[in-house]
Order: sequence, then structure tokens, then C-alpha cells
Amino acid sequence: MIRLESVSKNFNGKPAVDNISFQANEKEMLVLLGTSGCGKTTTLKMINRLVESDSGEIFINEKNIRHQNIQELRMGIGFVMQNSGLFPHYSVRRNIAVVPELLKWNKKKIADRTLELLHKLHLPEDILERFPNELSGGQQQRVGIARALIANSPILLMDEPFGALDNITKADIHSEQFNFTKQTSVWNALQKLSSDRQNTESYDLLMKAFSDYRKLQIV
Ligand SMILES: Nc1ncnc2c1ncn2[C@@H]1O[C@H](COP(=O)(O)OP(=O)(O)OP(=O)(O)O)[C@@H](O)[C@H]1O
Ligand SMILES: [Mg+2]
Repeated sequence: MIRLESVSKNFNGKPAVDNISFQANEKEMLVLLGTSGCGKTTTLKMINRLVESDSGEIFINEKNIRHQNIQELRMGIGFVMQNSGLFPHYSVRRNIAVVPELLKWNKKKIADRTLELLHKLHLPEDILERFPNELSGGQQQRVGIARALIANSPILLMDEPFGALDNITKADIHSEQFNFTKQTSVWNALQKLSSDRQNTESYDLLMKAFSDYRKLQIV
């Protein structure tokens, strides 16, 4: 369960997030809706403390995250960043393994789960020894998704996870390969869709994939 209570964040004296409150219940899938610049990314970043809030409180399973060790907090959260957020000096293999290594998984378990995710995300195995700048934008984004999903973290934060993917790949990844109902997840994933409707069939597929999600208009 994630709960935000009157959370605000200013950058250079200007409000990026202004007094927001909401709750995502255990195993709930919540989609944030709002115009560009309204604070969706900032909100997600405050939940794993990539950005510290100025006021208000954030609780995960009734624990105030302000008092939690940051590494422990992040070990329980899968986070897809809007711009993939991969470490440029790590190979794809190491990028994907960051959280499992913190969790002390053995090498075989990490390797097996990595391959499983590569296949589900339609990524070739030969990218594993490459660096992020040697991948296409859509491949980088899918590696970011693999990194967020590998440990089946109880909390998932998905900031435009499909932004650099075409509609068919998005719909396929979303509806056929993954089941997000076991995790508490907050998504920012429908923003770009309205401007990207050319392929009606896959658009409809993706809308259907999100039909069970609770939608929350934040501004
Ligand atoms: N590090 C920063 N320094 C200064 N201003 C920032 C910073 N990060 C975000 N902002 C500003 O805060 C506001 C909210 O930004 P945010 O990235 O959260 O929006 P968003 O809802 O995710 O938008 P988009 O849909 O375009 O990704 C914007 O006005 C943005 O310019
Ligand atoms: Mg954003």
C-alpha cells in the first residue's frame, strides 16, 4: 500500500507538485493522469526518494519512507524511468542485475530470470554484453522494464514505460506477457497515447489492457 498525504515539491520556488494526496491499495494498479508538466514524474520519484518532498508524508505499508534506509526502500520498488535511467557505464547484463545483486540472489537465478525477461520483452540475447548507448531507444526502454521487473518487487512505479515503443510492441508486452495484478503499481502510461492513435487496433488493445486500472486525475 502506498499513501501520499498532502505532499508538495517546489523547484526554484515554483510548485512542481502541489499538496497531492492519494492512496494505492495493496495489489491495486493505479494510473496517474494529467497534462505535461503537472508533476507525474516528480510524484513517482518522491515515492522512491529520487526526489525528496518539501512537505507532506509518504507511507509504504504504513512505514514513513522519510525514516527508511534509501537502499532498503529501493530494494522493494521496481522503477521504470521516463528516460530509461540505465547506468551508462554498466553493461546491459549488470544494469538488469542491480536489484537481484543487492538482494544477494545467486548467479544462476539472476541469469535465468534475465533470459526469461529478455524473451518476454522480445530482446536478443546478444545485447547483454553491450552498453546502453549501443542500443536503440526502444531497446533501452525495454532493458529498463526488465530491470524494474526482475525481482518481482511488491511495488512498481512505471513512468511512461512504453514511451519509446510502437503500439504493437506496447500492447503485446502489456497484455500478453505480464500480469501486474500481484503488485501495487502506480503508472504514468496513458499520456502519450492520445497523440499516438494511428494504429487503432493496437491502441484499442492497450486501452483494454488498462481498463481494470483505477485512473486518478492529478491536475
Ligand atoms: N529537477 C528539476 N528542476 C527544476 N524544475 C523541475 C525539475 N524536475 C521537474 N521540474 C519541473 O516541475 C514540473 C513537473 O515536472 P514533471 O517532470 O513531474 O512533470 P510530468 O507531469 O511528468 O510531465 P511530462 O508528462 O511532460 O513528463 C515541471 O514544470 C518541470 O519543469
Ligand atoms: Mg514525466
